[in-house]
Amino acid sequence: MNYVERFEKLGFGLFVHFGLYSKMAQGEWYLTLNPKADKEKYLGQVSSFRIRKDWAKRLVKTAKAAGCKYITLTTRHHDGFSLYDTCGLNDFDAPHSACGRDLIREFVDECNAAGIVPFFYHTLLDWWHKDFDTDFPAYIDYLVKSVEILCKNYGKIGGFWFDGMWSKPNEDWQEDRLYGTIRKYQPEAMIINNTGLNELGKVGHPELDSVTFERGKPCFVDNSDRHRAGEMCQVLNDHWGYAQGDCNYKSVKELIENLVDCRKYNCNFLLNTGLCGNGAVNPMDEAMLKEIGKWMKVNKGFIYGARSSDVTAEGADILRGDDGCYYAVIKDVGMSGDPNVQRVGAGKSVKVNARVTSARWLDTNERIAVKRGEFAVLPFVYGRSYSVRVAKLKIKEK
Ligand code: GLC
Repeated sequence: MNYVERFEKLGFGLFVHFGLYSKMAQGEWYLTLNPKADKEKYLGQVSSFRIRKDWAKRLVKTAKAAGCKYITLTTRHHDGFSLYDTCGLNDFDAPHSACGRDLIREFVDECNAAGIVPFFYHTLLDWWHKDFDTDFPAYIDYLVKSVEILCKNYGKIGGFWFDGMWSKPNEDWQEDRLYGTIRKYQPEAMIINNTGLNELGKVGHPELDSVTFERGKPCFVDNSDRHRAGEMCQVLNDHWGYAQGDCNYKSVKELIENLVDCRKYNCNFLLNTGLCGNGAVNPMDEAMLKEIGKWMKVNKGFIYGARSSDVTAEGADILRGDDGCYYAVIKDVGMSGDPNVQRVGAGKSVKVNARVTSARWLDTNERIAVKRGEFAVLPFVYGRSYSVRVAKLKIKEK
Protein backbone atom coordinates (compact mmCIF):
# COMPACT_ATOMS: atom_id res chain seq x y z
CA MET A 1 0.00 0.00 0.00
CA ASN A 2 1.47 3.38 -0.90
CA TYR A 3 0.83 6.63 0.98
CA VAL A 4 -2.11 7.64 -1.24
CA GLU A 5 -3.84 4.32 -0.56
CA ARG A 6 -3.09 4.68 3.14
CA PHE A 7 -4.73 8.09 3.06
CA GLU A 8 -7.81 6.62 1.39
CA LYS A 9 -8.08 4.06 4.18
CA LEU A 10 -8.23 6.84 6.77
CA GLY A 11 -11.59 7.65 5.21
CA PHE A 12 -12.91 10.22 7.62
CA GLY A 13 -11.07 13.28 8.94
CA LEU A 14 -11.78 16.28 11.11
CA PHE A 15 -11.08 19.66 9.56
CA VAL A 16 -10.24 22.30 12.16
CA HIS A 17 -10.31 26.05 11.65
CA PHE A 18 -8.52 27.79 14.46
CA GLY A 19 -6.63 31.08 14.54
CA LEU A 20 -6.80 34.68 15.63
CA TYR A 21 -10.15 34.99 13.87
CA SER A 22 -11.63 32.45 16.29
CA LYS A 23 -11.55 35.17 18.93
CA MET A 24 -13.78 37.42 16.85
CA ALA A 25 -16.38 34.61 16.63
CA GLN A 26 -17.45 35.84 13.18
CA GLY A 27 -15.87 33.34 10.84
CA GLU A 28 -12.37 33.10 9.36
CA TRP A 29 -13.00 35.77 6.70
CA TYR A 30 -13.78 38.41 9.34
CA LEU A 31 -10.88 40.69 8.44
CA THR A 32 -11.87 41.00 4.80
CA LEU A 33 -15.61 40.59 4.76
CA ASN A 34 -16.62 42.69 7.72
CA PRO A 35 -16.78 46.30 6.47
CA LYS A 36 -16.36 47.51 10.05
CA ALA A 37 -13.30 45.36 10.76
CA ASP A 38 -10.55 47.39 12.33
CA LYS A 39 -7.27 45.83 11.21
CA GLU A 40 -5.18 47.26 14.05
CA LYS A 41 -7.66 46.05 16.61
CA TYR A 42 -7.72 42.64 14.96
CA LEU A 43 -3.94 42.33 14.99
CA GLY A 44 -3.98 43.50 18.60
CA GLN A 45 -5.86 40.32 19.50
CA VAL A 46 -2.49 38.55 19.73
CA SER A 47 -1.96 40.16 23.11
CA SER A 48 -5.03 38.37 24.47
CA PHE A 49 -4.74 35.13 22.47
CA ARG A 50 -4.82 32.86 25.51
CA ILE A 51 -5.34 29.22 24.73
CA ARG A 52 -6.40 26.54 27.19
CA LYS A 53 -3.62 24.18 28.13
CA ASP A 54 -5.65 21.12 27.21
CA TRP A 55 -7.04 22.38 23.88
CA ALA A 56 -5.17 19.85 21.71
CA LYS A 57 -5.95 16.94 24.00
CA ARG A 58 -9.64 17.76 23.91
CA LEU A 59 -9.63 18.28 20.19
CA VAL A 60 -8.00 14.93 19.54
CA LYS A 61 -10.46 13.29 21.94
CA THR A 62 -13.36 14.80 20.02
CA ALA A 63 -11.95 13.55 16.72
CA LYS A 64 -11.49 10.06 18.12
CA ALA A 65 -15.01 9.96 19.51
CA ALA A 66 -16.33 10.93 16.06
CA GLY A 67 -14.44 8.07 14.44
CA CYS A 68 -12.05 10.39 12.56
CA LYS A 69 -8.62 8.99 11.78
CA TYR A 70 -6.94 12.25 10.87
CA ILE A 71 -7.13 15.95 11.64
CA THR A 72 -6.36 18.75 9.20
CA LEU A 73 -5.63 21.87 11.21
CA THR A 74 -5.12 25.43 9.95
CA THR A 75 -1.48 26.10 10.75
CA ARG A 76 -1.86 29.50 9.05
CA HIS A 77 -4.99 30.95 7.49
CA HIS A 78 -5.54 33.92 5.16
CA ASP A 79 -5.05 36.44 7.98
CA GLY A 80 -1.38 35.40 8.03
CA PHE A 81 -1.23 34.41 11.71
CA SER A 82 0.68 31.17 12.32
CA LEU A 83 -0.12 28.70 15.07
CA TYR A 84 3.46 27.40 14.72
CA ASP A 85 6.80 28.89 15.59
CA THR A 86 7.90 30.65 12.41
CA CYS A 87 11.50 30.51 13.69
CA GLY A 88 12.19 34.18 13.12
CA LEU A 89 10.41 34.64 9.77
CA ASN A 90 8.15 37.02 11.66
CA ASP A 91 6.64 37.35 15.10
CA PHE A 92 3.02 37.12 14.00
CA ASP A 93 2.76 33.63 15.45
CA ALA A 94 1.42 31.80 18.50
CA PRO A 95 4.74 31.77 20.43
CA HIS A 96 4.73 35.61 20.30
CA SER A 97 1.08 35.86 21.32
CA ALA A 98 -0.30 35.86 24.85
CA CYS A 99 -0.31 32.05 24.97
CA GLY A 100 3.43 31.95 24.26
CA ARG A 101 3.39 28.38 22.96
CA ASP A 102 3.88 26.55 19.68
CA LEU A 103 0.35 25.23 19.23
CA ILE A 104 1.29 23.03 16.29
CA ARG A 105 3.82 21.20 18.45
CA GLU A 106 1.06 20.51 21.00
CA PHE A 107 -1.32 19.42 18.27
CA VAL A 108 1.14 17.02 16.64
CA ASP A 109 2.17 15.53 20.00
CA GLU A 110 -1.43 14.84 20.98
CA CYS A 111 -2.22 13.33 17.57
CA ASN A 112 0.79 11.06 17.70
CA ALA A 113 -0.05 9.93 21.24
CA ALA A 114 -3.60 9.04 20.16
CA GLY A 115 -2.86 7.42 16.80
CA ILE A 116 -4.49 10.23 14.81
CA VAL A 117 -2.65 11.39 11.70
CA PRO A 118 -1.89 15.14 11.72
CA PHE A 119 -2.34 17.12 8.49
CA PHE A 120 -1.40 20.77 7.99
CA TYR A 121 -3.72 23.21 6.28
CA HIS A 122 -1.63 26.15 5.05
CA THR A 123 -2.89 29.25 3.34
CA LEU A 124 -1.47 30.45 0.04
CA LEU A 125 -3.51 33.64 -0.02
CA ASP A 126 -2.17 36.11 2.53
CA TRP A 127 -3.91 39.32 3.60
CA TRP A 128 -1.16 40.22 6.05
CA HIS A 129 2.18 39.78 4.33
CA LYS A 130 3.25 42.98 2.59
CA ASP A 131 4.85 41.15 -0.35
CA PHE A 132 1.68 39.32 -1.34
CA ASP A 133 0.43 42.24 -3.43
CA THR A 134 3.68 44.08 -4.12
CA ASP A 135 6.47 41.55 -4.69
CA PHE A 136 5.05 38.14 -5.47
CA PRO A 137 8.35 36.24 -5.95
CA ALA A 138 9.46 37.49 -2.51
CA TYR A 139 6.17 36.29 -1.08
CA ILE A 140 6.75 32.84 -2.58
CA ASP A 141 10.19 32.73 -0.92
CA TYR A 142 8.49 33.44 2.38
CA LEU A 143 5.79 30.83 1.73
CA VAL A 144 8.30 28.12 0.83
CA LYS A 145 10.38 28.91 3.93
CA SER A 146 7.22 28.69 6.03
CA VAL A 147 6.34 25.30 4.60
CA GLU A 148 9.91 24.10 5.05
CA ILE A 149 9.67 24.84 8.76
CA LEU A 150 6.52 22.74 8.98
CA CYS A 151 8.21 19.93 7.05
CA LYS A 152 11.32 19.86 9.23
CA ASN A 153 10.21 20.56 12.79
CA TYR A 154 7.28 18.28 13.59
CA GLY A 155 8.27 14.77 12.58
CA LYS A 156 6.35 12.75 10.07
CA ILE A 157 3.02 14.27 9.11
CA GLY A 158 0.16 13.01 6.97
CA GLY A 159 0.17 15.80 4.45
CA PHE A 160 -0.35 19.40 3.44
CA TRP A 161 -3.64 21.00 2.50
CA PHE A 162 -3.13 24.27 0.62
CA ASP A 163 -5.81 26.83 0.01
CA GLY A 164 -6.10 30.14 -1.76
CA MET A 165 -4.38 29.72 -5.11
CA TRP A 166 -7.72 30.61 -6.62
CA SER A 167 -7.17 34.19 -5.35
CA LYS A 168 -4.48 34.88 -7.99
CA PRO A 169 -4.96 32.31 -10.74
CA ASN A 170 -2.60 34.10 -13.14
CA GLU A 171 0.39 34.48 -10.81
CA ASP A 172 3.40 32.18 -10.89
CA TRP A 173 2.99 30.24 -7.65
CA GLN A 174 6.10 28.15 -8.39
CA GLU A 175 4.23 25.02 -7.55
CA ASP A 176 7.13 22.76 -8.56
CA ARG A 177 9.29 24.43 -5.95
CA LEU A 178 6.62 24.36 -3.24
CA TYR A 179 5.72 20.70 -3.75
CA GLY A 180 9.38 19.79 -4.31
CA THR A 181 10.16 21.12 -0.84
CA ILE A 182 7.58 18.78 0.64
CA ARG A 183 8.81 15.79 -1.37
CA LYS A 184 12.34 16.47 -0.16
CA TYR A 185 11.56 16.42 3.56
CA GLN A 186 8.29 14.47 3.75
CA PRO A 187 8.29 12.11 0.76
CA GLU A 188 5.18 10.31 1.99
CA ALA A 189 3.08 13.37 2.75
CA MET A 190 -0.13 13.87 0.80
CA ILE A 191 -0.13 17.09 -1.20
CA ILE A 192 -3.57 18.59 -1.56
CA ASN A 193 -4.50 21.99 -2.95
CA ASN A 194 -8.08 23.14 -2.60
CA THR A 195 -9.51 24.15 -5.96
CA GLY A 196 -12.40 26.03 -4.33
CA LEU A 197 -16.08 25.99 -5.08
CA ASN A 198 -15.74 26.72 -8.78
CA GLU A 199 -13.40 23.96 -9.87
CA LEU A 200 -14.44 20.92 -7.85
CA GLY A 201 -12.38 17.82 -8.48
CA LYS A 202 -9.89 19.47 -10.83
CA VAL A 203 -6.30 18.19 -10.90
CA GLY A 204 -4.40 21.49 -10.88
CA HIS A 205 -0.86 20.06 -10.95
CA PRO A 206 0.58 16.58 -11.57
CA GLU A 207 2.20 16.43 -8.12
CA LEU A 208 -1.15 16.66 -6.34
CA ASP A 209 -2.12 13.45 -4.56
CA SER A 210 -5.78 14.22 -4.04
CA VAL A 211 -8.42 16.42 -5.58
CA THR A 212 -10.93 18.37 -3.49
CA PHE A 213 -14.68 18.80 -3.50
CA GLU A 214 -15.39 21.74 -1.23
CA ARG A 215 -19.00 21.46 0.02
CA GLY A 216 -19.78 19.70 -3.23
CA LYS A 217 -20.84 16.35 -4.50
CA PRO A 218 -18.02 13.86 -4.72
CA CYS A 219 -17.36 12.20 -8.09
CA PHE A 220 -14.90 9.65 -9.36
CA VAL A 221 -11.39 11.04 -9.51
CA ASP A 222 -9.44 11.25 -12.74
CA ASN A 223 -6.77 8.57 -12.37
CA SER A 224 -5.66 8.54 -15.97
CA ASP A 225 -2.02 9.54 -15.32
CA ARG A 226 -1.60 8.07 -11.82
CA HIS A 227 -3.50 7.01 -8.73
CA ARG A 228 -5.04 9.94 -6.88
CA ALA A 229 -7.42 10.26 -3.94
CA GLY A 230 -10.42 12.53 -3.58
CA GLU A 231 -11.59 14.37 -0.52
CA MET A 232 -14.74 16.34 0.16
CA CYS A 233 -14.70 18.92 2.92
CA GLN A 234 -17.94 19.97 4.53
CA VAL A 235 -19.15 22.39 7.16
CA LEU A 236 -21.45 21.43 10.05
CA ASN A 237 -23.30 24.74 9.71
CA ASP A 238 -22.38 27.56 7.29
CA HIS A 239 -18.93 28.60 8.52
CA TRP A 240 -15.44 27.13 8.66
CA GLY A 241 -14.19 29.44 11.39
CA TYR A 242 -16.31 29.70 14.54
CA ALA A 243 -19.20 32.13 14.03
CA GLN A 244 -21.42 32.83 16.97
CA GLY A 245 -25.10 32.67 16.12
CA ASP A 246 -24.77 30.38 13.11
CA CYS A 247 -27.26 27.68 13.96
CA ASN A 248 -27.88 26.58 10.39
CA TYR A 249 -26.68 23.10 11.19
CA LYS A 250 -27.03 20.12 8.91
CA SER A 251 -28.62 17.07 10.45
CA VAL A 252 -26.38 14.33 11.75
CA LYS A 253 -28.18 11.95 9.40
CA GLU A 254 -27.37 14.15 6.41
CA LEU A 255 -23.71 14.21 7.41
CA ILE A 256 -23.63 10.43 7.74
CA GLU A 257 -25.15 10.25 4.25
CA ASN A 258 -22.46 12.65 2.99
CA LEU A 259 -19.82 10.34 4.43
CA VAL A 260 -21.35 7.31 2.73
CA ASP A 261 -21.59 9.19 -0.57
CA CYS A 262 -17.92 10.11 -0.37
CA ARG A 263 -16.90 6.49 0.16
CA LYS A 264 -19.12 5.42 -2.72
CA TYR A 265 -16.91 7.52 -5.01
CA ASN A 266 -13.67 6.41 -3.28
CA CYS A 267 -13.34 9.81 -1.62
CA ASN A 268 -12.52 10.80 1.95
CA PHE A 269 -14.81 12.99 4.01
CA LEU A 270 -13.29 15.94 5.89
CA LEU A 271 -15.82 17.40 8.29
CA ASN A 272 -15.12 20.78 9.82
CA THR A 273 -15.32 22.31 13.25
CA GLY A 274 -14.31 25.88 14.11
CA LEU A 275 -12.72 26.13 17.55
CA CYS A 276 -13.75 28.86 19.98
CA GLY A 277 -11.38 31.72 20.76
CA ASN A 278 -9.79 29.92 23.72
CA GLY A 279 -9.24 26.72 21.74
CA ALA A 280 -12.26 24.85 23.10
CA VAL A 281 -14.43 22.72 20.84
CA ASN A 282 -17.85 24.30 20.37
CA PRO A 283 -20.21 22.11 22.48
CA MET A 284 -22.81 21.83 19.71
CA ASP A 285 -20.18 20.59 17.23
CA GLU A 286 -18.81 18.21 19.81
CA ALA A 287 -22.23 16.69 20.43
CA MET A 288 -22.89 16.20 16.72
CA LEU A 289 -19.50 14.65 16.11
CA LYS A 290 -20.12 12.27 18.99
CA GLU A 291 -23.38 11.12 17.43
CA ILE A 292 -21.61 10.39 14.15
CA GLY A 293 -19.06 8.39 16.12
CA LYS A 294 -21.83 6.31 17.69
CA TRP A 295 -23.19 5.48 14.26
CA MET A 296 -19.70 4.51 13.10
CA LYS A 297 -19.34 2.17 16.07
CA VAL A 298 -22.76 0.57 15.67
CA ASN A 299 -21.85 -0.07 12.05
CA LYS A 300 -18.50 -1.65 12.94
CA GLY A 301 -16.37 0.92 11.16
CA PHE A 302 -17.16 -0.62 7.76
CA ILE A 303 -16.77 2.85 6.26
CA TYR A 304 -12.94 2.88 6.42
CA GLY A 305 -12.57 -0.01 4.03
CA ALA A 306 -15.60 0.89 1.91
CA ARG A 307 -15.12 1.76 -1.77
CA SER A 308 -17.13 1.97 -4.92
CA SER A 309 -18.72 -1.21 -6.16
CA ASP A 310 -19.80 -2.54 -9.51
CA VAL A 311 -22.72 -4.29 -7.84
CA THR A 312 -25.80 -2.08 -7.84
CA ALA A 313 -29.19 -2.24 -6.14
CA GLU A 314 -32.57 -0.64 -6.22
CA GLY A 315 -33.40 0.99 -2.88
CA ALA A 316 -29.84 1.04 -1.51
CA ASP A 317 -26.32 2.26 -2.20
CA ILE A 318 -23.87 -0.61 -2.50
CA LEU A 319 -20.29 -0.23 -1.37
CA ARG A 320 -17.56 -2.81 -1.44
CA GLY A 321 -15.54 -3.47 1.72
CA ASP A 322 -11.87 -4.37 1.88
CA ASP A 323 -12.99 -7.65 3.50
CA GLY A 324 -14.51 -8.86 0.22
CA CYS A 325 -18.06 -8.25 1.51
CA TYR A 326 -20.53 -5.74 0.14
CA TYR A 327 -22.49 -3.20 2.14
CA ALA A 328 -26.00 -2.06 1.32
CA VAL A 329 -26.70 1.36 2.80
CA ILE A 330 -30.36 2.30 3.21
CA LYS A 331 -30.92 5.99 3.83
CA ASP A 332 -34.72 6.20 4.05
CA VAL A 333 -35.82 3.51 6.45
CA GLY A 334 -38.94 5.19 7.87
CA MET A 335 -40.61 4.64 11.26
CA SER A 336 -43.55 2.61 12.46
CA GLY A 337 -45.86 3.20 15.41
CA ASP A 338 -49.31 4.55 16.21
CA PRO A 339 -50.50 6.61 13.21
CA ASN A 340 -52.12 9.12 15.57
CA VAL A 341 -48.79 9.86 17.10
CA GLN A 342 -45.99 8.89 14.74
CA ARG A 343 -45.41 9.64 11.08
CA VAL A 344 -45.66 6.10 9.86
CA GLY A 345 -43.41 4.88 7.08
CA ALA A 346 -44.29 1.81 5.10
CA GLY A 347 -40.94 0.07 4.91
CA LYS A 348 -39.39 -0.85 1.61
CA SER A 349 -37.61 -3.53 -0.27
CA VAL A 350 -34.09 -3.63 -1.65
CA LYS A 351 -33.18 -5.52 -4.79
CA VAL A 352 -29.51 -6.28 -5.28
CA ASN A 353 -28.41 -7.00 -8.83
CA ALA A 354 -26.19 -9.93 -7.88
CA ARG A 355 -26.38 -13.32 -6.16
CA VAL A 356 -26.55 -12.63 -2.44
CA THR A 357 -25.65 -15.73 -0.45
CA SER A 358 -26.16 -14.24 3.03
CA ALA A 359 -26.98 -10.94 4.67
CA ARG A 360 -26.96 -9.44 8.17
CA TRP A 361 -27.76 -6.04 9.65
CA LEU A 362 -24.58 -4.46 10.94
CA ASP A 363 -26.38 -2.67 13.78
CA THR A 364 -28.24 -5.65 15.33
CA ASN A 365 -26.28 -8.49 13.75
CA GLU A 366 -29.63 -10.08 12.78
CA ARG A 367 -29.76 -12.33 9.78
CA ILE A 368 -31.76 -11.01 6.83
CA ALA A 369 -33.87 -13.28 4.65
CA VAL A 370 -32.93 -12.72 1.02
CA LYS A 371 -34.77 -14.14 -1.94
CA ARG A 372 -33.30 -13.73 -5.42
CA GLY A 373 -31.30 -10.73 -4.28
CA GLU A 374 -34.34 -9.08 -2.72
CA PHE A 375 -34.94 -8.32 0.94
CA ALA A 376 -37.38 -6.33 3.05
CA VAL A 377 -36.38 -3.32 5.10
CA LEU A 378 -38.87 -2.85 7.90
CA PRO A 379 -39.33 0.64 9.23
CA PHE A 380 -37.72 1.40 12.57
CA VAL A 381 -40.04 0.79 15.48
CA TYR A 382 -40.66 4.07 17.27
CA GLY A 383 -38.12 4.35 20.06
CA ARG A 384 -35.42 2.37 18.30
CA SER A 385 -33.69 3.97 15.36
CA TYR A 386 -30.25 3.79 13.76
CA SER A 387 -30.94 6.60 11.24
CA VAL A 388 -29.15 5.02 8.30
CA ARG A 389 -29.06 1.21 8.15
CA VAL A 390 -26.36 -0.97 6.72
CA ALA A 391 -26.67 -4.60 5.63
CA LYS A 392 -23.52 -6.66 5.20
CA LEU A 393 -23.85 -8.91 2.17
CA LYS A 394 -21.95 -11.90 0.94
CA ILE A 395 -22.17 -12.11 -2.80
CA LYS A 396 -21.32 -14.95 -5.10
CA GLU A 397 -19.13 -13.45 -7.79
CA LYS A 398 -19.66 -14.55 -11.34
C1 GLC B 1 -12.25 28.46 1.33
C2 GLC B 1 -12.04 29.62 2.26
C3 GLC B 1 -11.44 29.27 3.54
C4 GLC B 1 -11.67 27.90 4.07
C5 GLC B 1 -11.68 26.87 3.00
C6 GLC B 1 -12.02 25.50 3.51
O1 GLC B 1 -11.22 28.27 0.47
O2 GLC B 1 -11.29 30.67 1.73
O3 GLC B 1 -11.73 30.23 4.47
O4 GLC B 1 -10.61 27.65 4.90
O5 GLC B 1 -12.52 27.24 1.98
O6 GLC B 1 -12.16 24.57 2.50
